[in-house]
Amino acid sequence: MGGDVQRLLEALPRPLPLPVVIPGLVIVSGLPGTGKSHFAWRLAQRAPLAVVESDAMRRALVASPTYSAEESVRLFSAIHQLIEVLLTEGIPVLLDATTLLEAHREPLYQIAQRRRAWIILAVMVAPPPVVHRRLNTRHNARNRQDSSEADWDVYERMRFSQEPISRPHYRVDTTRDIGPALDRVVREVQQNIQKAV
Ligand SMILES: Nc1ncnc2c1ncn2[C@@H]1O[C@H](COP(=O)(O)OP(=O)(O)OP(=O)(O)O)[C@@H](O)[C@H]1O
Ligand SMILES: [Mg+2]
Repeated sequence: MGGDVQRLLEALPRPLPLPVVIPGLVIVSGLPGTGKSHFAWRLAQRAPLAVVESDAMRRALVASPTYSAEESVRLFSAIHQLIEVLLTEGIPVLLDATTLLEAHREPLYQIAQRRRAWIILAVMVAPPPVVHRRLNTRHNARNRQDSSEADWDVYERMRFSQEPISRPHYRVDTTRDIGPALDRVVREVQQNIQKAV
C-alpha cells in the first residue's frame, strides 16, 4: 500500500464497520452546499459504511490544500486505491465527494465491477438560493462534520460542469425531509450486504 493510501486509511473516522458478506459503495454526489456531508453522516449512523469524505481526505494528505488539478489527481488516485482496499477487506464504503463528471464516476464503476461490489448512487440537489444561504452560513459557523471550504464561487464554477448520470440513482431534494430517502438507501444497503452470491 502506498504512503498516501496509508495516510488516508489512518484518517478515516473510527470505528470502521465490520466486514460484510458482500461489500459495496454508496456514492453521495452533488454540488457544494447541496447537503452531501449532512446526508452522509445521517446515513453512516444507520448503515455499516466507512465514510470517505474527499475534503477530509485532502486535509489528511496536504496541510494547506491548493485545490490544484495536480493535487486532485493525487487525492483521487489515493481515494480510489483506498476504496479498493476497503472493499477487498469486505468493508462497505460511502464516498462523499462532488463526483459531478462521468470521468469521476467511471473509475468508481470499474473498482466496483472488479471487486464484484454493489453500487448505490445518491445525488443531492437544492435550489441555488438555498445553497447560497447555506454556504454563507457555513462561512460563519464551522462544525466537526464539515471539512469543506467550498464557497459560492466554487459552486458557480462547478454548476455548469455537472453531467447527467447514466445509471439509476436516487435524487434527493435536501430542502425537503431527507428521512424517506435515507430510509430507502439504508434498506438497499442492508439488502445488498446480505444477498447470497
Ligand atoms: N437536509 C438539510 N436540511 C437543512 N440544512 C442542511 C441540509 N443538508 C445540509 N444542510 C446545511 O447546508 C450546509 C451545507 O451542507 P453540507 O456541508 O452537507 O453540504 P456538502 O454538499 O457536503 O458541501 P461541500 O461539497 O462543500 O462539502 C450545512 O451548513 C448544513 O447544515
Ligand atoms: Mg461536504
